[in-house]
Amino acid sequence: MTRHISDLIDTRLHEHQMSRRQLLGGASALAIGVTTGCGPKITTLSNVAPFIEVKAGLDAMAHWPTATHDCQVLISWGDPIFARAPQWHPGEVTALQQAQQFGDCNDFIAFMPLERGSQNSRHGLLCVNHEYTNRVSMFPDNPKPTFTGVAEAELMGHGHSVVEIERIKNTWSFRKSSAYNRRITPRTPMSLTGPAAGHSRLQTAADPTGREVLGTVANCSGGTTPWHTVLSGEENIHLYFRGVPEDAGPEAENHRAMGIGVIQPWRFDVLDDRWILREVPREPNRFGWIVEIDPFDARSTPKKRTALGRFSHEGAEVVVDPSGHIVVLMGDDSVDQFVYRFVSEDRWDPSNPDSAKGLLDKGILYVARFDSAGLTWLPLVLEGVLAQHFASMGDLLIETRRAARLIGATPMDRPERISVHPQTGEFYVMLTKNPSRSRGQPANPRPHNLFGQILVLSPHAGSNISERWRWHLLVEAGPPETCNTAPPPTITTDDGLLCCPDNSCFDSAGRLLVCTDGASSALIRSGREPRSDGLFLVDTDGPNQGRTRLFFRAPVGGELTGPCFTPDDSTLFLGVQHPGRKPFPDAPASCWPAPPDSGLPPRSSVIALTRQGGGRVF
Ligand code: FEO
Ligand code: CA
Ligand code: CA
Ligand code: CA
Repeated sequence: MTRHISDLIDTRLHEHQMSRRQLLGGASALAIGVTTGCGPKITTLSNVAPFIEVKAGLDAMAHWPTATHDCQVLISWGDPIFARAPQWHPGEVTALQQAQQFGDCNDFIAFMPLERGSQNSRHGLLCVNHEYTNRVSMFPDNPKPTFTGVAEAELMGHGHSVVEIERIKNTWSFRKSSAYNRRITPRTPMSLTGPAAGHSRLQTAADPTGREVLGTVANCSGGTTPWHTVLSGEENIHLYFRGVPEDAGPEAENHRAMGIGVIQPWRFDVLDDRWILREVPREPNRFGWIVEIDPFDARSTPKKRTALGRFSHEGAEVVVDPSGHIVVLMGDDSVDQFVYRFVSEDRWDPSNPDSAKGLLDKGILYVARFDSAGLTWLPLVLEGVLAQHFASMGDLLIETRRAARLIGATPMDRPERISVHPQTGEFYVMLTKNPSRSRGQPANPRPHNLFGQILVLSPHAGSNISERWRWHLLVEAGPPETCNTAPPPTITTDDGLLCCPDNSCFDSAGRLLVCTDGASSALIRSGREPRSDGLFLVDTDGPNQGRTRLFFRAPVGGELTGPCFTPDDSTLFLGVQHPGRKPFPDAPASCWPAPPDSGLPPRSSVIALTRQGGGRVF
């Protein structure tokens, strides 16, 4: 960057009397309160975080640097989160219980301090997506999936949880009696807002307005806003609708583009016709959006923000541009899909809470086209070729993928989480893999890419709303012999080799943490020994730029999610999702977080990692 973001922030502070924290959104808003934000100094910070690297491997348990850090299981799938909620009993799971218990397969994690907007690092709301359900854990005896009770329980295991948590001395716990606690499920009433709301293609017999929808599914990663709400990405929505695209008549091509009809692991169709394409052909159009949730009001109606486009939303990284416009970076996690940017039409005024209300409903959605020298943000508006193909912005947004392809966006290697560096303002894009890529191109250099890469996007002169940005590859993931343009530096140990980046976050000092998803299957596919997924500390600059170090190793079959820090970086929340799932037939079994010989089913859980003796995790 030619001009450091701190300079731009200071200029804007001077102009508009905002606080630094208000100017940077989401996670970075929390971060800026405890850091001075000077460019070169972060190099040394990245390099000194002391811990002994964990050994790579694969077994039933989780591993972390036990000499320096403590690890506590804070909450697990099935834990009751309301005062009178029933206890979890293995193998006896019902919808009624699930509606009152922590959901399954925790993915995105946000820690929202209490009071709202404060820097409290010991008391807050844990906001967690429940991406899907794991039948191996829920019903270890594997009943038939058409059994209505199973489908019902699985449905209620999806969605999102809000749980009040508190750290007393060194122990985190959740409060069952909290008025904040909430389960959001595929049955929770929500609104559709923005340009597509009310469009005929969102109308159904159950909702002739096209503005009210029941629930959310496939909630993967997410983000937070500067006004302290949570954004949740509806990702693999194609897994929930019964039938083939042709069943949906005029929507067939649209549904095919979303991957609908290929497989359907869940059988919600036995509960409600809206999951059957032939019966309600437009219902899938009501999913695949970013959902905004106000965790501080348990009675609030979540909103699906259609201005942010419809695709397999991984997450949403929000910043406040120095101009005051809200900018959201988003990835569409499917092979050969795209990276998007939303720029709000209006500016955020932190002194006026009402100014946030419509910010995510009005603005321009852009998609990225990469070339060897940089990237161009292409606006998805009703002009040129897009005006020939779409009758309205509602039409266009419902088929965001088709619009992006029509204007020449660059197909990427499955964009997962995007995280903004709290000091440089650069966006780090996790590209998880793309085995079906036949040819490399600048930002996705490897054909048959089994291991993924981390891409860095640099706004021009610190302006997040500029048309032309720069990019560089931080690291190609996987064994060095599989890399070509950006192999891991030689200082990276064999234990530290990262495969298939997925979720990520920064601490306030600018240290990047990256979780992996699918390392063992990628390694097996390339003829190598499998190893568990991990959480890696990544050097973003300095002499060891691109080095990855293994800090936490998942139990067999689990991937790692979250991750998320408290504002003072003293606790790192991390999700262990679907532990115990067998990545290959003779893989070891796991009962994690229960001991290996307990006979209990493994459970997705959120853990809290802290440094022994207190202070920053890194
Ligand atoms: Fe649900 Fe893209 O991971
Ligand atoms: Ca993900
Ligand atoms: Ca993934
Ligand atoms: Ca994942």
